[in-house]
Amino acid sequence: MLSAGVRSGREQNDPAEKHRESTMTTPELKGAPLLVVGAGLMGAGIAQVAAQAGHAVQLFDTREGAAEQAKAGLAATLDGLVAKGKMGTDDANATLARIAPIASLAAGGSAHLVVEAIVEDLGIKRALFRQLEAVVAPGCVLATNTSSISVTALAAGLAHPGRLVGMHFFNPVPLMKLVEVVSGLHTEPAVAEAVFALAGAWGKVPVHARSTPGFIVNRIARPYYAEALALLLEQAATPQVLDACLRAAGFRMGPCELMDLIGHDTNFAVTQSVYEANFFDKRFMPSLVQREMVEGGLLGRKSGRGFYRYPEGVPPLPVAVHEAPATAREVTVHGEGAVADFLEQAATLALAAQGWGPARLRDSAWVGVEIDGARLVLTTGRTAGEIAVQEGPADVAVFDRPLALTASAGLPTGLPPGTALAYALAPQAGPAWRTQSAAWLAALGFTPLPLADTPGLVVARTVAMLVNEAADAVLQGVCTPAGADAAMKLGVNYPAGPFEWLAHWSATEVLALLDALDAQYRGERYRASPWLRRQALL
Ligand code: NAI
Repeated sequence: MLSAGVRSGREQNDPAEKHRESTMTTPELKGAPLLVVGAGLMGAGIAQVAAQAGHAVQLFDTREGAAEQAKAGLAATLDGLVAKGKMGTDDANATLARIAPIASLAAGGSAHLVVEAIVEDLGIKRALFRQLEAVVAPGCVLATNTSSISVTALAAGLAHPGRLVGMHFFNPVPLMKLVEVVSGLHTEPAVAEAVFALAGAWGKVPVHARSTPGFIVNRIARPYYAEALALLLEQAATPQVLDACLRAAGFRMGPCELMDLIGHDTNFAVTQSVYEANFFDKRFMPSLVQREMVEGGLLGRKSGRGFYRYPEGVPPLPVAVHEAPATAREVTVHGEGAVADFLEQAATLALAAQGWGPARLRDSAWVGVEIDGARLVLTTGRTAGEIAVQEGPADVAVFDRPLALTASAGLPTGLPPGTALAYALAPQAGPAWRTQSAAWLAALGFTPLPLADTPGLVVARTVAMLVNEAADAVLQGVCTPAGADAAMKLGVNYPAGPFEWLAHWSATEVLALLDALDAQYRGERYRASPWLRRQALL
């Protein structure tokens, strides 16, 4: 039986603190009987995982026959696992035998844990939890798989609101490791701990989150889509170019192909719900580009057309052939750090055939390569046009951050040859530099992809915004930096976590990039997190 506890303000504001200081005994949920309500996509997956972990699982759905249908579907899934040699026949039979569809909620009274995975509607979910309180024992933990509704709001009005917690799985449940354990204002720390331990016992990686719009993943991931849509809105690049750049940075899918996969209606709805839940903070404003697609029925893969046509999918980028750069008199690599080191190696290789090498100016205000006075500059957020105006030379091109060089622990000395990289020319650049800038990037080992002269280009801008959102989540006690990193890597397969990127970039540089974006766009979207600003001071 759960007792109500008194929690300090500090506990309420810091989920980590809250869980450490809990005095209540943690309910033991391992092996406990379970009731899953909602036998759709997620409910069926949750039932499978729980049954595989040895729980007796009852399954209930208001749609007649849905629970039986889900069980039949799971039988086929388990057969498939047996056929692939991933599970023994006895194991599969035992797993299936643990799942019992029930015809009424009243039959679920013996559950120690209920996981709710019904329709995403506050009123309907609230009504269900009230109904459940009349059925289950007062000590039974109630978990919701909601992806967007406030856990605090769901618990309001319950007789024992402290037992309600978010247990946010990702689709497909059996494969995705992440579970966000979401605490609302009412949630007893011991309840969150129990669900956290249970998810771990199921082979998942649980991460504590405070109930705030989008929780961790759906909040921090917003800029991955938003920045691509913003670049498309201003005609800076095609979806193909954006996808190629972010794939080259290590993301498994580019933002446009990913939105096509998720479905633009679903993606737009999540963005809209986060926007509305934040009192229409412009930082989360949905995109006109996506709204038009939804209105036009261009929903992505499921409708046969989104940014791309299906089943064809992403067409290959047109192959551009770059000639070797014209002979230069002077080549100097500017700056310090992994990118400058890589450029020095690459320029040395490129010039070796001519029997000479680049100079290196470590003490420089910028990172990049200077070729007979023309500049290839690693983006800091200033556009090529701004650099040309502020610093003199007309022949300026900025290039995107080669993230794979700096994203992970242990600096590699190279990038796969032909790594796609966005670059942009200053409008003032002369005709020779227009071809030579691309020729040089190609000679340095990149596949240069031209972009309009926009601040932060593609990867730098997107990653800076992901870091910024993660920083704000930490500022607001939604999660810890380690929690954010785990959540983004496991929930959406990011190649690294935002704070891992930050460790190999720097708070000062990320902040400078965000401030440059803010100066260009003059809105709320690029408002830097105070957490990042404080970090930069250190
Ligand atoms: P779904 O539509 O596949 O399944 C929902 C099921 O709930 C349906 O079978 C429906 O008949 C049943 N249902 C509706 N009202 C009910 C009630 N009052 N009592 C019992 N059963 C009821 O939906 P899906 O995708 O499984 O989503 C379920 C929940 O999981 C939602 O809250 C959703 O936001 C959340 N979620 C969904 C993810 C996804 O990728 N689909 C990912 C993470 C969370």
